[in-house]
Amino acid sequence: MPDFTIRPAGPDDAAEFLRHRRMIAREPNNGIIQGPDDPLPTEAEMRERFAQTAHSANSVTMLALDSDQHVIGLAGLHGGSRQANRHTATIGIAVSPEWRGQGVGTALMQAIIDFARQGGVLKRLELEVISTNERAIHVYRKLGFVPEGLHRRKLFKDGQFHDNLSMALFIAALD
Ligand SMILES: CC(C)(COP(=O)(O)OP(=O)(O)OC[C@H]1O[C@@H](n2cnc3c(N)ncnc32)[C@H](O)[C@@H]1OP(=O)(O)O)[C@@H](O)C(=O)NCCC(=O)NCCS
Repeated sequence: MPDFTIRPAGPDDAAEFLRHRRMIAREPNNGIIQGPDDPLPTEAEMRERFAQTAHSANSVTMLALDSDQHVIGLAGLHGGSRQANRHTATIGIAVSPEWRGQGVGTALMQAIIDFARQGGVLKRLELEVISTNERAIHVYRKLGFVPEGLHRRKLFKDGQFHDNLSMALFIAALD
């Protein structure tokens, strides 16, 4: 059984969080929108963001940590800031290459869903995934996400266009 833990990020995780983000950004064909030349927030900005989300019911960053407390995966949930969309949140997720296929992504997504249920605010979780990212789509379907549509040629990465599939999970029946 792989040895990892999941918990919400706090301000003191900013540097480790950014180390993981930089490592994933440099990976060719990494499956996410972030590429090596895209800017990332500063450590101070991340500290501030994590301090703010500590009190949020619709936004959180979940970290997966190995036994040495190094970040091996993360999942961000970003809730809407207006009255009209505070029940909706978008998800981004990335696991370190050497940890993929060992249950980390599923555990991170489950932690995000549990957070959304417990917060009582979120009704809809949504994400976009490159349509050929079969492992990610398998994980999302397994946890109840349903495809909603295809955004054709939404991304241009690694020398080619990619279609994005949008998927969503309803946390509770919408009134
Ligand atoms: C996508 C990602 C988050 C999944 O996390 P993970 O830790 O690798 O996933 P898990 O180990 O929890 O689960 C993988 C599942 O996919 C299945 N799988 C693996 N390769 C697959 C494939 N080619 N097609 C379909 N299913 C596949 C596994 O069998 C497993 O299924 P199971 O839980 O039913 O046994 C991770 O691989 C990752 O970070 N990839 C790079 C970044 C990325 O693509 N992010 C998502 C952007 S939307």
